[in-house]
Amino acid sequence: MHFTKEDFGKDFKWGVSTAAYQIEGAHDLDGKGTSIWDSFSNKKRKITNGHNGNIACDFYHQYPQDLELIKQLNIPNYRFSISWSRILPNGTGEINFKGVAYYNRVIDLCLELGIEPWVTIYHWDLPEALHAKGGWTNREVLNWFSEYVQCCIKYFGDRVKHWMVLNEPMVFTGAGYFLGVHAPGKVGLSNFLAAAHHAALCQAEGGRILRSHQQEYKIGTTFSYSHIDPLRENHEKDLRAVVKVDALLNRLFLEPLLGMGYPMKDLKILQKIERFMLPGDEQKLAFQMDFVGLQNYTREIVSHAPLMPFVQAKIIKANKRKVTHTLMNWEVYPASIYQALKRWNNYPAIKEILVTENGAAFHDHLVENEVHDAERLQYLQDHIEQVLKAQKEGVKVNGYFVWTLMDNFEWAEGYHPRFGLIHVDFDTQKRTIKNSGKWYSQLLLDRKL
Ligand code: FCB
Repeated sequence: MHFTKEDFGKDFKWGVSTAAYQIEGAHDLDGKGTSIWDSFSNKKRKITNGHNGNIACDFYHQYPQDLELIKQLNIPNYRFSISWSRILPNGTGEINFKGVAYYNRVIDLCLELGIEPWVTIYHWDLPEALHAKGGWTNREVLNWFSEYVQCCIKYFGDRVKHWMVLNEPMVFTGAGYFLGVHAPGKVGLSNFLAAAHHAALCQAEGGRILRSHQQEYKIGTTFSYSHIDPLRENHEKDLRAVVKVDALLNRLFLEPLLGMGYPMKDLKILQKIERFMLPGDEQKLAFQMDFVGLQNYTREIVSHAPLMPFVQAKIIKANKRKVTHTLMNWEVYPASIYQALKRWNNYPAIKEILVTENGAAFHDHLVENEVHDAERLQYLQDHIEQVLKAQKEGVKVNGYFVWTLMDNFEWAEGYHPRFGLIHVDFDTQKRTIKNSGKWYSQLLLDRKL
Protein backbone atom coordinates (compact mmCIF):
# COMPACT_ATOMS: atom_id res chain seq x y z
CA MET A 1 0.00 0.00 0.00
CA HIS A 2 1.42 3.33 -1.04
CA PHE A 3 -0.80 5.74 0.84
CA THR A 4 -2.24 6.59 4.22
CA LYS A 5 -5.45 8.34 5.14
CA GLU A 6 -3.45 11.47 5.99
CA ASP A 7 -2.19 11.77 2.39
CA PHE A 8 -5.71 12.82 1.36
CA GLY A 9 -5.98 15.67 3.85
CA LYS A 10 -8.00 16.23 7.00
CA ASP A 11 -11.19 17.26 5.19
CA PHE A 12 -11.38 14.21 2.95
CA LYS A 13 -14.66 12.34 3.45
CA TRP A 14 -14.22 8.59 3.81
CA GLY A 15 -17.38 6.58 3.71
CA VAL A 16 -19.43 3.63 2.64
CA SER A 17 -22.61 3.54 0.53
CA THR A 18 -25.82 1.49 0.45
CA ALA A 19 -29.32 1.83 -1.02
CA ALA A 20 -32.70 1.16 0.59
CA TYR A 21 -34.06 -1.53 -1.71
CA GLN A 22 -30.77 -3.42 -1.74
CA ILE A 23 -30.55 -3.87 2.04
CA GLU A 24 -33.71 -3.01 3.97
CA GLY A 25 -36.12 -5.87 3.26
CA ALA A 26 -39.39 -5.36 5.22
CA HIS A 27 -40.92 -4.72 1.83
CA ASP A 28 -44.51 -4.64 3.06
CA LEU A 29 -44.07 -3.97 6.75
CA ASP A 30 -45.34 -1.12 8.91
CA GLY A 31 -47.36 0.54 6.19
CA LYS A 32 -44.77 0.62 3.43
CA GLY A 33 -46.27 0.96 -0.05
CA THR A 34 -45.17 -1.12 -3.04
CA SER A 35 -42.29 0.20 -5.15
CA ILE A 36 -41.47 -0.58 -8.77
CA TRP A 37 -38.65 -2.85 -7.58
CA ASP A 38 -41.08 -4.82 -5.37
CA SER A 39 -43.31 -5.52 -8.34
CA PHE A 40 -40.50 -5.96 -10.86
CA SER A 41 -38.91 -8.68 -8.74
CA ASN A 42 -42.03 -10.33 -7.30
CA LYS A 43 -44.78 -10.05 -9.89
CA LYS A 44 -42.75 -9.79 -13.04
CA ARG A 45 -40.02 -12.12 -11.71
CA LYS A 46 -37.39 -10.42 -13.81
CA ILE A 47 -34.41 -11.08 -11.56
CA THR A 48 -31.74 -13.77 -11.99
CA ASN A 49 -32.72 -16.88 -10.00
CA GLY A 50 -36.11 -15.33 -9.18
CA HIS A 51 -34.52 -13.30 -6.37
CA ASN A 52 -36.18 -10.27 -4.79
CA GLY A 53 -35.48 -7.69 -2.11
CA ASN A 54 -38.30 -8.76 0.22
CA ILE A 55 -35.87 -9.56 3.02
CA ALA A 56 -32.46 -8.62 1.59
CA CYS A 57 -30.10 -7.92 4.52
CA ASP A 58 -33.05 -7.22 6.82
CA PHE A 59 -31.40 -3.90 7.61
CA TYR A 60 -34.84 -2.64 8.64
CA HIS A 61 -34.47 -4.74 11.78
CA GLN A 62 -30.71 -5.26 11.94
CA TYR A 63 -29.71 -1.62 11.55
CA PRO A 64 -28.48 -1.21 15.15
CA GLN A 65 -25.88 -3.95 14.75
CA ASP A 66 -25.01 -2.84 11.20
CA LEU A 67 -24.43 0.77 12.24
CA GLU A 68 -22.28 -0.57 15.08
CA LEU A 69 -20.27 -2.43 12.46
CA ILE A 70 -19.75 0.81 10.51
CA LYS A 71 -18.42 2.35 13.68
CA GLN A 72 -16.25 -0.67 14.37
CA LEU A 73 -14.80 -0.27 10.86
CA ASN A 74 -13.88 3.36 11.71
CA ILE A 75 -15.99 4.64 8.81
CA PRO A 76 -17.05 8.23 9.58
CA ASN A 77 -19.62 8.77 6.79
CA TYR A 78 -22.56 6.55 5.85
CA ARG A 79 -24.46 7.09 2.61
CA PHE A 80 -27.89 5.45 2.42
CA SER A 81 -31.15 6.12 0.62
CA ILE A 82 -34.72 6.72 1.70
CA SER A 83 -37.40 4.48 0.26
CA TRP A 84 -40.00 6.87 -1.15
CA SER A 85 -42.88 4.38 -0.70
CA ARG A 86 -41.92 3.75 2.93
CA ILE A 87 -42.69 7.32 3.88
CA LEU A 88 -45.28 8.11 1.16
CA PRO A 89 -46.94 4.74 0.40
CA ASN A 90 -48.82 6.17 -2.58
CA GLY A 91 -46.00 8.44 -3.67
CA THR A 92 -47.95 11.58 -2.70
CA GLY A 93 -50.46 12.52 -0.05
CA GLU A 94 -50.71 10.37 3.02
CA ILE A 95 -47.58 10.04 5.18
CA ASN A 96 -46.62 6.69 6.73
CA PHE A 97 -45.39 7.78 10.14
CA LYS A 98 -44.01 4.34 10.96
CA GLY A 99 -41.71 4.66 7.96
CA VAL A 100 -40.68 8.15 9.04
CA ALA A 101 -39.99 6.82 12.54
CA TYR A 102 -37.76 4.08 11.14
CA TYR A 103 -35.52 6.57 9.28
CA ASN A 104 -35.45 8.77 12.35
CA ARG A 105 -34.15 5.83 14.37
CA VAL A 106 -31.45 5.15 11.77
CA ILE A 107 -30.40 8.81 11.57
CA ASP A 108 -30.42 9.27 15.35
CA LEU A 109 -28.34 6.17 15.93
CA CYS A 110 -25.83 7.26 13.26
CA LEU A 111 -25.39 10.57 15.06
CA GLU A 112 -25.15 8.88 18.44
CA LEU A 113 -22.38 6.65 17.11
CA GLY A 114 -20.53 9.60 15.58
CA ILE A 115 -21.38 8.58 11.99
CA GLU A 116 -22.41 11.35 9.60
CA PRO A 117 -25.55 10.43 7.60
CA TRP A 118 -25.45 11.17 3.84
CA VAL A 119 -28.90 10.72 2.36
CA THR A 120 -29.65 9.80 -1.25
CA ILE A 121 -33.21 10.92 -1.84
CA TYR A 122 -33.90 8.66 -4.83
CA HIS A 123 -32.06 5.40 -5.43
CA TRP A 124 -34.39 3.85 -8.02
CA ASP A 125 -37.40 2.63 -6.00
CA LEU A 126 -40.29 4.71 -7.36
CA PRO A 127 -43.65 4.07 -5.68
CA GLU A 128 -45.72 1.70 -7.82
CA ALA A 129 -48.73 4.02 -7.44
CA LEU A 130 -46.80 6.68 -9.38
CA HIS A 131 -45.67 4.19 -11.98
CA ALA A 132 -49.35 3.42 -12.58
CA LYS A 133 -49.65 7.08 -13.64
CA GLY A 134 -46.68 6.87 -15.99
CA GLY A 135 -43.87 7.24 -13.46
CA TRP A 136 -40.81 9.04 -14.78
CA THR A 137 -42.36 9.38 -18.23
CA ASN A 138 -45.10 11.65 -16.84
CA ARG A 139 -44.08 15.28 -16.36
CA GLU A 140 -46.24 15.30 -13.22
CA VAL A 141 -43.30 13.48 -11.60
CA LEU A 142 -41.81 16.93 -11.04
CA ASN A 143 -44.61 17.72 -8.60
CA TRP A 144 -44.56 14.27 -6.99
CA PHE A 145 -40.82 14.41 -6.56
CA SER A 146 -40.91 17.94 -5.15
CA GLU A 147 -43.44 16.85 -2.54
CA TYR A 148 -41.24 13.88 -1.63
CA VAL A 149 -38.15 16.08 -1.28
CA GLN A 150 -40.12 18.47 0.97
CA CYS A 151 -41.11 15.50 3.13
CA CYS A 152 -37.50 14.35 3.48
CA ILE A 153 -36.53 17.87 4.56
CA LYS A 154 -39.48 18.21 6.91
CA TYR A 155 -38.87 14.95 8.76
CA PHE A 156 -35.09 14.48 8.53
CA GLY A 157 -33.66 17.84 7.50
CA ASP A 158 -32.99 19.06 11.02
CA ARG A 159 -30.27 16.40 11.44
CA VAL A 160 -29.28 15.40 7.90
CA LYS A 161 -26.89 17.95 6.41
CA HIS A 162 -25.54 16.03 3.40
CA TRP A 163 -27.89 15.21 0.55
CA MET A 164 -27.70 13.56 -2.85
CA VAL A 165 -30.76 14.13 -5.00
CA LEU A 166 -30.59 11.22 -7.47
CA ASN A 167 -28.56 8.07 -7.87
CA GLU A 168 -27.26 7.49 -11.40
CA PRO A 169 -30.12 8.82 -13.55
CA MET A 170 -28.52 7.31 -16.67
CA VAL A 171 -28.79 3.83 -15.22
CA PHE A 172 -32.34 4.02 -13.92
CA THR A 173 -33.68 5.63 -17.10
CA GLY A 174 -31.51 3.60 -19.50
CA ALA A 175 -31.98 0.21 -17.87
CA GLY A 176 -35.52 0.90 -16.62
CA TYR A 177 -37.11 2.78 -19.53
CA PHE A 178 -35.05 1.87 -22.60
CA LEU A 179 -33.64 -1.64 -22.16
CA GLY A 180 -36.29 -2.88 -19.75
CA VAL A 181 -33.80 -4.84 -17.65
CA HIS A 182 -34.41 -2.78 -14.50
CA ALA A 183 -37.71 -1.72 -12.94
CA PRO A 184 -40.19 -0.79 -14.23
CA GLY A 185 -39.15 -2.79 -17.31
CA LYS A 186 -40.17 -0.26 -19.94
CA VAL A 187 -38.52 -0.12 -23.36
CA GLY A 188 -38.17 2.27 -26.26
CA LEU A 189 -36.74 5.62 -27.18
CA SER A 190 -39.80 7.72 -26.27
CA ASN A 191 -40.09 6.26 -22.81
CA PHE A 192 -36.39 6.75 -22.29
CA LEU A 193 -36.19 10.35 -23.48
CA ALA A 194 -39.28 11.37 -21.53
CA ALA A 195 -37.96 9.72 -18.36
CA ALA A 196 -34.51 11.21 -18.94
CA HIS A 197 -35.78 14.76 -19.34
CA HIS A 198 -38.00 14.56 -16.27
CA ALA A 199 -35.21 13.02 -14.18
CA ALA A 200 -32.83 15.76 -15.32
CA LEU A 201 -35.39 18.40 -14.30
CA CYS A 202 -35.90 16.69 -10.94
CA GLN A 203 -32.21 16.52 -10.12
CA ALA A 204 -31.92 20.30 -10.44
CA GLU A 205 -35.29 21.02 -8.82
CA GLY A 206 -34.40 18.78 -5.86
CA GLY A 207 -31.23 20.84 -5.41
CA ARG A 208 -33.20 24.09 -5.49
CA ILE A 209 -35.72 22.87 -2.92
CA LEU A 210 -32.97 21.73 -0.55
CA ARG A 211 -31.07 25.00 -0.98
CA SER A 212 -34.14 27.13 -0.42
CA HIS A 213 -34.65 25.32 2.84
CA GLN A 214 -31.14 25.63 4.25
CA GLN A 215 -28.16 27.49 2.87
CA GLU A 216 -25.81 25.31 4.94
CA TYR A 217 -26.85 21.97 3.45
CA LYS A 218 -24.17 20.22 1.40
CA ILE A 219 -26.09 19.29 -1.72
CA GLY A 220 -25.02 16.96 -4.49
CA THR A 221 -26.25 14.35 -6.90
CA THR A 222 -24.54 11.28 -8.34
CA PHE A 223 -23.62 10.01 -11.81
CA SER A 224 -22.33 6.78 -13.24
CA TYR A 225 -19.19 7.32 -15.31
CA SER A 226 -16.99 4.92 -17.25
CA HIS A 227 -14.00 6.02 -19.25
CA ILE A 228 -14.52 4.95 -22.86
CA ASP A 229 -11.84 3.80 -25.31
CA PRO A 230 -12.13 2.72 -28.94
CA LEU A 231 -11.61 -0.91 -29.88
CA ARG A 232 -9.19 0.11 -32.60
CA GLU A 233 -7.00 3.10 -31.82
CA ASN A 234 -6.85 5.71 -34.58
CA HIS A 235 -9.79 4.07 -36.31
CA GLU A 236 -11.96 6.99 -37.29
CA LYS A 237 -15.32 5.21 -37.07
CA ASP A 238 -14.52 3.70 -33.68
CA LEU A 239 -13.47 7.11 -32.44
CA ARG A 240 -16.79 8.51 -33.58
CA ALA A 241 -18.53 5.67 -31.76
CA VAL A 242 -16.64 6.66 -28.60
CA VAL A 243 -17.94 10.23 -28.83
CA LYS A 244 -21.54 9.05 -29.18
CA VAL A 245 -21.48 6.49 -26.40
CA ASP A 246 -19.70 8.96 -24.16
CA ALA A 247 -22.39 11.60 -24.83
CA LEU A 248 -25.05 9.08 -23.88
CA LEU A 249 -23.47 7.38 -20.89
CA ASN A 250 -21.34 10.11 -19.37
CA ARG A 251 -22.68 13.52 -20.39
CA LEU A 252 -26.46 13.29 -20.82
CA PHE A 253 -27.32 14.17 -17.20
CA LEU A 254 -24.20 15.95 -16.02
CA GLU A 255 -23.98 18.67 -18.65
CA PRO A 256 -27.53 20.04 -18.44
CA LEU A 257 -27.05 20.28 -14.67
CA LEU A 258 -23.90 22.33 -15.32
CA GLY A 259 -25.87 24.69 -17.56
CA MET A 260 -24.49 23.26 -20.82
CA GLY A 261 -27.69 21.68 -22.13
CA TYR A 262 -27.97 18.16 -23.52
CA PRO A 263 -25.01 16.91 -25.63
CA MET A 264 -27.15 16.79 -28.79
CA LYS A 265 -24.38 17.88 -31.13
CA ASP A 266 -22.44 14.72 -30.42
CA LEU A 267 -25.45 12.40 -30.39
CA LYS A 268 -28.08 13.57 -32.87
CA ILE A 269 -30.83 11.25 -31.63
CA LEU A 270 -30.94 13.28 -28.41
CA GLN A 271 -32.55 16.10 -30.38
CA LYS A 272 -35.77 14.15 -29.99
CA ILE A 273 -35.72 15.02 -26.28
CA GLU A 274 -36.95 18.48 -27.34
CA ARG A 275 -40.40 16.94 -27.81
CA PHE A 276 -40.62 16.75 -24.03
CA MET A 277 -39.21 20.20 -23.30
CA LEU A 278 -41.31 23.22 -22.44
CA PRO A 279 -40.20 26.85 -22.73
CA GLY A 280 -37.85 27.68 -19.87
CA ASP A 281 -36.78 24.08 -19.27
CA GLU A 282 -33.20 24.66 -20.42
CA GLN A 283 -32.69 27.05 -17.46
CA LYS A 284 -34.53 24.75 -15.09
CA LEU A 285 -32.13 21.91 -15.89
CA ALA A 286 -29.23 23.82 -14.34
CA PHE A 287 -28.35 24.03 -10.67
CA GLN A 288 -25.11 24.77 -8.84
CA MET A 289 -24.47 21.72 -6.68
CA ASP A 290 -21.97 21.86 -3.83
CA PHE A 291 -20.54 18.59 -5.07
CA VAL A 292 -21.09 15.96 -7.72
CA GLY A 293 -20.84 12.27 -6.89
CA LEU A 294 -18.72 10.14 -9.21
CA GLN A 295 -19.68 6.47 -9.37
CA ASN A 296 -17.08 4.51 -11.22
CA TYR A 297 -16.46 0.80 -11.55
CA THR A 298 -14.85 0.14 -14.91
CA ARG A 299 -14.18 1.44 -18.41
CA GLU A 300 -15.92 0.54 -21.64
CA ILE A 301 -14.50 -0.37 -25.04
CA VAL A 302 -16.67 0.48 -28.02
CA SER A 303 -16.57 -0.12 -31.74
CA HIS A 304 -18.49 1.19 -34.72
CA ALA A 305 -21.58 -0.96 -35.34
CA PRO A 306 -23.65 0.38 -38.27
CA LEU A 307 -26.66 -1.79 -37.49
CA MET A 308 -27.05 -0.68 -33.90
CA PRO A 309 -29.99 1.71 -33.68
CA PHE A 310 -29.44 5.31 -32.50
CA VAL A 311 -25.73 5.14 -31.67
CA GLN A 312 -24.23 2.94 -34.39
CA ALA A 313 -21.88 1.65 -31.75
CA LYS A 314 -21.54 -1.35 -29.52
CA ILE A 315 -19.85 -2.08 -26.23
CA ILE A 316 -17.50 -5.05 -26.23
CA LYS A 317 -17.84 -6.90 -22.96
CA ALA A 318 -14.80 -7.68 -20.81
CA ASN A 319 -15.03 -11.49 -21.09
CA LYS A 320 -15.04 -11.20 -24.90
CA ARG A 321 -11.89 -9.11 -24.67
CA LYS A 322 -10.34 -11.65 -22.27
CA VAL A 323 -9.32 -9.03 -19.72
CA THR A 324 -9.48 -9.31 -15.93
CA HIS A 325 -13.04 -8.65 -14.87
CA THR A 326 -15.37 -8.83 -11.87
CA LEU A 327 -18.46 -11.00 -11.45
CA MET A 328 -20.44 -8.22 -13.17
CA ASN A 329 -18.27 -8.77 -16.25
CA TRP A 330 -16.80 -5.31 -15.69
CA GLU A 331 -13.14 -4.91 -16.61
CA VAL A 332 -10.83 -4.13 -13.71
CA TYR A 333 -9.28 -0.89 -14.93
CA PRO A 334 -8.29 1.49 -12.12
CA ALA A 335 -7.09 4.24 -14.49
CA SER A 336 -10.75 4.86 -15.40
CA ILE A 337 -11.43 6.58 -12.07
CA TYR A 338 -8.39 8.82 -12.56
CA GLN A 339 -9.46 9.70 -16.10
CA ALA A 340 -12.97 10.49 -14.88
CA LEU A 341 -11.69 12.77 -12.14
CA LYS A 342 -9.33 14.61 -14.47
CA ARG A 343 -12.08 15.18 -16.97
CA TRP A 344 -14.68 16.35 -14.47
CA ASN A 345 -12.12 18.71 -13.02
CA ASN A 346 -12.12 20.55 -16.34
CA TYR A 347 -15.78 21.51 -16.00
CA PRO A 348 -15.64 24.97 -14.39
CA ALA A 349 -19.13 24.54 -12.89
CA ILE A 350 -18.09 21.55 -10.78
CA LYS A 351 -17.12 22.86 -7.36
CA GLU A 352 -16.11 19.62 -5.71
CA ILE A 353 -16.10 15.93 -6.59
CA LEU A 354 -16.75 13.05 -4.22
CA VAL A 355 -16.39 9.45 -5.28
CA THR A 356 -19.74 8.27 -3.95
CA GLU A 357 -19.41 4.67 -5.22
CA ASN A 358 -16.55 2.38 -6.18
CA GLY A 359 -16.12 -1.31 -5.47
CA ALA A 360 -16.17 -4.81 -6.94
CA ALA A 361 -17.94 -8.18 -6.86
CA PHE A 362 -15.80 -11.31 -6.77
CA HIS A 363 -16.30 -14.90 -5.64
CA ASP A 364 -15.98 -14.81 -1.86
CA HIS A 365 -15.42 -17.86 0.32
CA LEU A 366 -16.37 -17.87 3.94
CA VAL A 367 -13.94 -20.23 5.64
CA GLU A 368 -13.77 -20.49 9.42
CA ASN A 369 -15.34 -17.10 9.89
CA GLU A 370 -12.99 -15.33 7.51
CA VAL A 371 -13.22 -14.08 3.95
CA HIS A 372 -9.87 -13.67 2.23
CA ASP A 373 -11.06 -11.38 -0.54
CA ALA A 374 -7.66 -10.51 -1.92
CA GLU A 375 -9.02 -9.36 -5.30
CA ARG A 376 -11.42 -6.86 -3.76
CA LEU A 377 -8.73 -5.56 -1.45
CA GLN A 378 -6.41 -5.03 -4.40
CA TYR A 379 -9.19 -3.43 -6.42
CA LEU A 380 -9.93 -0.91 -3.65
CA GLN A 381 -6.27 -0.09 -3.04
CA ASP A 382 -5.60 0.42 -6.74
CA HIS A 383 -8.60 2.68 -7.19
CA ILE A 384 -7.94 4.74 -4.08
CA GLU A 385 -4.39 5.19 -5.28
CA GLN A 386 -5.70 6.59 -8.56
CA VAL A 387 -7.90 9.02 -6.62
CA LEU A 388 -4.83 10.20 -4.72
CA LYS A 389 -2.88 10.60 -7.94
CA ALA A 390 -5.63 12.84 -9.33
CA GLN A 391 -5.84 14.82 -6.09
CA LYS A 392 -2.08 15.39 -6.09
CA GLU A 393 -2.39 16.77 -9.61
CA GLY A 394 -4.84 19.36 -8.35
CA VAL A 395 -8.18 17.65 -8.96
CA LYS A 396 -10.75 18.89 -6.44
CA VAL A 397 -11.76 15.44 -5.25
CA ASN A 398 -12.63 15.38 -1.60
CA GLY A 399 -14.18 12.04 -0.70
CA TYR A 400 -14.33 8.33 -1.35
CA PHE A 401 -17.21 6.00 -0.46
CA VAL A 402 -16.88 2.25 -0.97
CA TRP A 403 -19.71 0.40 -2.64
CA THR A 404 -20.76 -1.29 -0.38
CA LEU A 405 -21.10 -1.95 3.33
CA MET A 406 -22.34 -5.51 3.03
CA ASP A 407 -23.33 -8.05 0.38
CA ASN A 408 -26.83 -7.22 -0.83
CA PHE A 409 -29.46 -7.43 -3.56
CA GLU A 410 -27.64 -6.44 -6.75
CA TRP A 411 -30.67 -5.40 -8.83
CA ALA A 412 -31.18 -7.55 -11.95
CA GLU A 413 -28.40 -9.90 -10.83
CA GLY A 414 -29.99 -10.79 -7.49
CA TYR A 415 -27.76 -11.93 -4.62
CA HIS A 416 -25.04 -13.56 -6.69
CA PRO A 417 -22.56 -10.68 -7.07
CA ARG A 418 -21.21 -9.84 -3.62
CA PHE A 419 -19.82 -6.32 -3.31
CA GLY A 420 -19.63 -5.95 0.48
CA LEU A 421 -16.84 -5.15 2.91
CA ILE A 422 -18.94 -7.42 5.10
CA HIS A 423 -20.09 -10.89 4.12
CA VAL A 424 -23.77 -11.69 4.64
CA ASP A 425 -25.14 -15.19 5.02
CA PHE A 426 -28.61 -14.64 3.59
CA ASP A 427 -30.07 -17.70 5.39
CA THR A 428 -29.01 -16.66 8.87
CA GLN A 429 -28.31 -12.92 8.33
CA LYS A 430 -24.93 -13.46 9.96
CA ARG A 431 -22.38 -10.74 9.17
CA THR A 432 -18.64 -11.45 8.83
CA ILE A 433 -16.16 -8.69 8.18
CA LYS A 434 -14.07 -9.57 5.10
CA ASN A 435 -10.36 -8.89 4.87
CA SER A 436 -11.11 -5.89 2.65
CA GLY A 437 -13.27 -4.51 5.47
CA LYS A 438 -10.49 -5.07 7.98
CA TRP A 439 -8.07 -3.32 5.67
CA TYR A 440 -10.42 -0.34 5.19
CA SER A 441 -10.85 -0.04 8.95
CA GLN A 442 -7.06 -0.01 9.39
CA LEU A 443 -6.73 2.69 6.75
CA LEU A 444 -9.31 4.81 8.54
CA LEU A 445 -7.93 4.28 12.02
CA ASP A 446 -7.24 7.63 13.55
CA ARG A 447 -3.58 7.41 14.38
CA LYS A 448 -3.78 10.53 16.44
CA LEU A 449 -6.01 8.92 19.04
C1 FCB B 1 -24.43 1.19 -9.15
C2 FCB B 1 -25.63 1.37 -8.25
C3 FCB B 1 -25.53 0.63 -6.94
C4 FCB B 1 -24.87 -0.72 -7.11
C5 FCB B 1 -23.62 -0.66 -7.91
C6 FCB B 1 -22.91 -1.98 -8.10
O1 FCB B 1 -24.79 1.41 -10.48
O2 FCB B 1 -25.79 2.73 -7.96
O3 FCB B 1 -26.80 0.57 -6.37
O4 FCB B 1 -25.78 -1.65 -7.58
O5 FCB B 1 -23.86 -0.09 -9.17
